[in-house]
Amino acid sequence: MYRVGSIRTLATVIAILCACVCRQGLAAPDSSEEAAFGSPPALAPGQAPPLPKAGPLARPPSQDQAGFPAELTKAVIPPGSPLTAAVASLGERLFFDSRLSGDGTVSCATCHDPARAFTDGQPVSIGIGGRAGQRNAPTILNALYNKTQFWDGRVNTLEEQAALPITNPFEMGSASIADAVARIAGDADYQQQFTSAFGRGVNARDLLTAVATYERTLVSFDTPFDHFVVGEQNAISDAAKRGWVSFNTKARCNLCHALTDNQRDVTVFTDNDFHNIGIGIIRHQVVPLAIKAKRELAHGQLPDIDLAAITSETSVLGRFLLTKKDNDIASFKTPDLRNVLVTAPYFHDGSQETLWDVVDHYNKGDGLADPWLDEDIQPLALTEPEIDDLVAFLASLTSPQYKELGDKEYARQLALSKVNRPQRDTARAFGPKPERPKPPPL
Ligand code: HEC
Ligand code: HEC
Repeated sequence: MYRVGSIRTLATVIAILCACVCRQGLAAPDSSEEAAFGSPPALAPGQAPPLPKAGPLARPPSQDQAGFPAELTKAVIPPGSPLTAAVASLGERLFFDSRLSGDGTVSCATCHDPARAFTDGQPVSIGIGGRAGQRNAPTILNALYNKTQFWDGRVNTLEEQAALPITNPFEMGSASIADAVARIAGDADYQQQFTSAFGRGVNARDLLTAVATYERTLVSFDTPFDHFVVGEQNAISDAAKRGWVSFNTKARCNLCHALTDNQRDVTVFTDNDFHNIGIGIIRHQVVPLAIKAKRELAHGQLPDIDLAAITSETSVLGRFLLTKKDNDIASFKTPDLRNVLVTAPYFHDGSQETLWDVVDHYNKGDGLADPWLDEDIQPLALTEPEIDDLVAFLASLTSPQYKELGDKEYARQLALSKVNRPQRDTARAFGPKPERPKPPPL
């Protein structure tokens, strides 16, 4: 089931050939957890980014956190999951092991660095051979609560998820999972760790289970906002309090970043659904791409969809790549908003640099030319102080281990917002809801 599908598109073959030709076989230098935030390291051409080390931020945190959802957590752990310390620590080791990549230069942590709240700080991720994909790396923190994984929800479980980057030619570029397993199977420490975790030797299924199990330990709550919710009135600023009210009323964020339209959600900030909110679509010729994708992916297997999402411009089609339904064109998963301050840049394509840019985007109800725009997107008429309040609220969702980073990042984004607000369009924000163009025939 974790095998790369036999149907390969031409794009796959080219990508794999390129992967082989471009391989450098060089070990990347180590980075440290003190990497300056906001300015990802300059990358040498043709090389993967530096390999992050597993430091204290990578350790499974205690569940003793304000706001930790004990019931929900029990409910999202699949029955029969081996949630033991032995399995999780094996998974942690695998998460940081670059031997799972084709040329030994890329680990999961390359793009999900604990020092950056398990993201990479890049607009789109850079993998093996320095190849840039099409999408922004989401955080792994609280990924266990996602009903589906990836921006387009192409898999449901963390186990299925973990198999795809290992073989994706723009990410870790292993020829197969078996190939990755073969590269670590001779390691005596791994043999011992697999045996004590699972009672058998190194194998693909247990490898994926271990990585997923490690990820399920990465729960991240205990934010100033969580302390506010349990009654500590001074845990967040007045601006953040006003922002939280506006989030659920005038700014309409709760229509998607909450479990239901008419309830406040203080836990995961997502409806687990997919929406076209007008990101990226303007920069691409969507109709020809959709026709192409329908043709090429008519019998597409999961690995083919994974390639389309990461390595080709069809990526912009989002959920459509799975469903081939016109209404899903350029629809992406509503992300959880916890730790969002420290996971810039934003959106599936990393196109927005600051939280001010994100709110400016919503404020103008962007999507004049987007016939598939979600009906809930409309001009919001938010004033400058109201925009600042929303950002203050989003910043209050930062877990304590990222407080220092968050403070720095807030200052960086604030300074940027004073000199550059590329998405701001006050006339449109205070104007009428634009007429939505009719979707063209496909
Ligand atoms: C080259 C960079 C890169 C590497 C290496 C990588 N990832 Fe990712 N990861 C991404 C990107 C980009 C996405 C979003 C892709 C998409 O949605 O199509 C992603 C998505 C995810 C998600 C889904 C999160 C969500 O909110 O939907 C999880 C979980 C994840 N990766 C775990 C892993 C694991 C485990 C490994 C190692 C086996 C790994 N990643 C290796 C870049 C990377
Ligand atoms: C119609 C549903 C909808 C509404 C309303 C909505 N969002 Fe979103 N939000 C999404 C979706 C879907 C994405 C991902 C879109 C993409 O990347 O293409 C997203 C992404 C984001 C992101 C980027 C997160 C990241 O990790 O990159 C932030 C921040 C955000 N929304 C905040 C807000 C705020 C603040 C509001 C209210 C002003 C709001 N959203 C209203 C659906 C919505």
